Amino acid sequence: MNEQTAAAPPNAEQIDYWNGPVGLRWLAYNDWLDERTAAYGRAAFAAAAPQPGESVLDIGCGAGATSFELARAVGASGSVTGVDVSAPLLGRARERAAAQGMNVEFREADASRPGFAAHSFDLLYSRFGVMFFDDPTAAFAELHKTLKPGGRLAFACWQGPQLNDWYELPLAAIADLVERTPVDTRQPGPFALSDADRVREVLGEAGFAQIELEPFATPFYLGRGATREAMADDAMAQVFRVGPIARLLESHSEQTNAKAREAIRAALLRIAGDDGLEVGGAVWVVTARKE
Ligand SMILES: C[S@@+](CC[C@H](N)C(=O)[O-])C[C@H]1O[C@@H](n2cnc3c(N)ncnc32)[C@H](O)[C@@H]1O
Repeated sequence: MNEQTAAAPPNAEQIDYWNGPVGLRWLAYNDWLDERTAAYGRAAFAAAAPQPGESVLDIGCGAGATSFELARAVGASGSVTGVDVSAPLLGRARERAAAQGMNVEFREADASRPGFAAHSFDLLYSRFGVMFFDDPTAAFAELHKTLKPGGRLAFACWQGPQLNDWYELPLAAIADLVERTPVDTRQPGPFALSDADRVREVLGEAGFAQIELEPFATPFYLGRGATREAMADDAMAQVFRVGPIARLLESHSEQTNAKAREAIRAALLRIAGDDGLEVGGAVWVVTARKE
């Protein structure tokens, strides 16, 4: 087979996506995103209960914030490996590890075929890094092989868009301006594991047992600031760079974009409160075991 006829490797589109402009925008907004997603990650972290001495894999570790938390929990007798496909985000993770003196190995690899030996890990953990596989069952089956018998899986993934206003609110604000594509929860993306039955099916077929999904909800701070305007500005910067809006609007005219900015800003200002611009955010905390 030559290059033209060779089938694209698994997850090729997502690998390009996280290494292209989106990866760079995530890098620019990494501190913002770390702060906003921390509570959801902590819920999965509590369920994961990493212990001193354990070996842990952080799947889709991005710029490494959760890998460092895991490393602190397992201590010097344990080990943490962060795996991700995004070279720019891993670059940041390695810089942070060096600056903080953290002993975490970061590996650039597709987590659906990471190349780790069987029975390498006590715990597989992820904060929003497992929803981007073309074939989730095959990916989780490979990850299952890397777990030791009795090993645990724990991750946070978003529940449906209707419970996640950080996604829905800006889209609803421009519903009259731009036709939206309905979310396809079977495609890689933030909502790929939002259907609880599907998660049970995927993990069960991948070989996991004792599969549990616990709902966890806490406000998502779309914007912070001293005034309502500052909160809206903070939110606008993110909404137009790392959310679904940026992609939806890129093929539209500057005139439509300007109207969309106005409509979204007005919607944001309407919900700005004393503590910030807070919207609904809900995840599944998923746990499972290898028997
Ligand atoms: C929503 S971000 C979450 C990043 C990080 N866990 C956090 O909470 O900051 C999703 C991450 O999954 C990574 N990713 C996507 N597909 C992947 C794959 N097949 N293997 C490994 N990482 C992947 C992306 O590069 C990105 O860093």
